[in-house]
Amino acid sequence: METVRTLAIIKPDAVRAGNAGKVLSMIEGSGLAVEAVRMFRLTREAAGAFYAVHRGKSFYGELLEFMSSGPCIALVLSGENAVARWRELMGATNPSSAADGTIRKLYGTSVQFNACHGSDAPETARQEVAFFFSGAELPVN
Ligand code: CMP
Repeated sequence: METVRTLAIIKPDAVRAGNAGKVLSMIEGSGLAVEAVRMFRLTREAAGAFYAVHRGKSFYGELLEFMSSGPCIALVLSGENAVARWRELMGATNPSSAADGTIRKLYGTSVQFNACHGSDAPETARQEVAFFFSGAELPVN
């Protein structure tokens, strides 16, 4: 099977709570490769652009507030079937429905404060990786 990339974000709630290292350790334990990492605080505008697909939804404003509330960590993960594997490791969007042992079950506290983000499909992954990482930081090969 082909190696693909996905975009992961350790969100401000998980960073603030001191869970970033534990999430990174779970990523390493999963066998997914970490190709690139950046830690930064999103502006509200950048959060709005990243989550533009959710514009108009009831939670959009709160989501921008949350995502710009403190530093987050964006990672490019790669491996066979990496998009689906990272989504499985994260668990369901709402931590209360996430499977035991998943990141959101362990470290998420609500549907909004859900500890991490992952691309939902390979094409979205390409767009989301390019949103945070330039070609100079992440060679094609
Ligand atoms: P994420 O996977 O990053 O995609 C969009 C984010 O919006 C989601 O995780 C949550 O942080 C947030 N979100 C999704 N649904 C809701 C909701 N019903 N109420 C509040 N926040 C939500």
